[in-house]
Amino acid sequence: MKSSAKAACWRSGQQPMMDRVTPSDRVNYGAVLALAVISFMLLRKWIAGGVCKSCARLDGKTVVITGANTGIGRETAKEMARRGVMMCPKLITEDGFETQLAVNHLGHFLLTNLLLGMLKRSSPSRVVNVSSVAHIGGKIEFDDLFFDKRPYSPLVSYKQSKLANVLFSKELARRMKGTGVSSYCLHPGVIRTELNRHILLWYPMMKTILSLPMNILSMLLMKTPWQGAQTSIYCAVTEGLERKSGCYFSDCAEKDPAPEGKDDAVARRLWEESSLLVGLNSTDTPDCKRSS
Ligand SMILES: NC(=O)c1ccc[n+]([C@@H]2O[C@H](COP(=O)([O-])OP(=O)(O)OC[C@H]3O[C@@H](n4cnc5c(N)ncnc54)[C@H](OP(=O)(O)O)[C@@H]3O)[C@@H](O)[C@H]2O)c1
Repeated sequence: MKSSAKAACWRSGQQPMMDRVTPSDRVNYGAVLALAVISFMLLRKWIAGGVCKSCARLDGKTVVITGANTGIGRETAKEMARRGVMMCPKLITEDGFETQLAVNHLGHFLLTNLLLGMLKRSSPSRVVNVSSVAHIGGKIEFDDLFFDKRPYSPLVSYKQSKLANVLFSKELARRMKGTGVSSYCLHPGVIRTELNRHILLWYPMMKTILSLPMNILSMLLMKTPWQGAQTSIYCAVTEGLERKSGCYFSDCAEKDPAPEGKDDAVARRLWEESSLLVGLNSTDTPDCKRSS
C-alpha cells in the first residue's frame, strides 16, 4: 500500500509526504510533543497531591493499620488506619449491621475505643481516619442507619459511612483534649486500588474504565497507592500536628470539610449511638468535658 501511494505521488508529480516535511515542521512537531509531555507531567504532579516530607522516626511506637493487605493501607504499612469498602450491595454483618457503616465506621469506632487506654498510656499518640471527599452531601440518618426503612442506595450508604469518619474523628479529638491523644481525618485522593470492586454491579461502564490496570484514563487521572498513602503518613508522623487535632486533611494539607462534617451535635449523637450499637457503656467511652 505504502509504495503504491508513493508511486502515485511521483506519477502525479507531487513529492511524497515525508519529503515535504521541512526542518521547521520538525521543530513544530517537537514543540507539540514536548508540550504534551510537560502537560502530562504537570497533570500527574497535580493529581499526585502532596508528598509527606517529614523525617520523623517512629522508634518505639506501635502503628496499627487496618485494611493493610491491599490498596492504600498496604502502601501506608510499607512506609511506616483503616479498613474500607465502597458501594457494595446491601449486606448484613454477623452483628446485624449494614456492611458499609459497619466496616467503614463501627469497626474503627470499636477498635479505637478498645485501644484508648493504651493510646493514652503511650501518648503522644495519634488516630488517623481515612474518610473521603464523598462525605460531602452525606447524612447520618439516625432513624434508619442500616436502611431498614428506606430503599438501600450503595452511594448514600457510602457517603453516610464516610461522613461518620469525619464526625467520629472530630468528636474523638474533643473527648481526648488534654490526654495527649490526637485525631485526624483525611481524603486520600482518587486512587487506583481495589475499592471499585463492587462498582460493576451498579455502573458497568465505570468499572470497565477503572479496572484495566494499564488503562490510560486511570493512569492519567488517578493517584498511585503510594501517592494515596501520603496524607495518612503525613497525619501520622508530621511534627507539631497535635494542635490540629480534629481537623480534616487532603493532599498533605489541612482542608475545610463540608458543613455536615462540622456539626458538633451530630458528632456527639453519633458517638453515643455508635457506643450503644457496639456495646460500649459510658465508662468505656470517656467524655473529657463530662469528667472534668
Ligand atoms: N481508593 C480511593 O480512590 C479512595 C478514595 C477516597 C477514600 N478512600 C478510602 O480509603 C480506604 C481504603 O480504600 P482502598 O482504596 O485502599 O481500598 P481497597 O484496596 O479495596 O482496600 C480495602 C481494605 O478493606 C478491606 N475490606 C473490604 N471489605 C471488607 C469487609 N466487608 N470487612 C472487612 N474488611 C473489608 C479489604 O480487605 P479484603 O481485601 O480482605 O477484603 C482491604 O484491606 C477506604 O476507607 C476508602 O473509603 C479510597
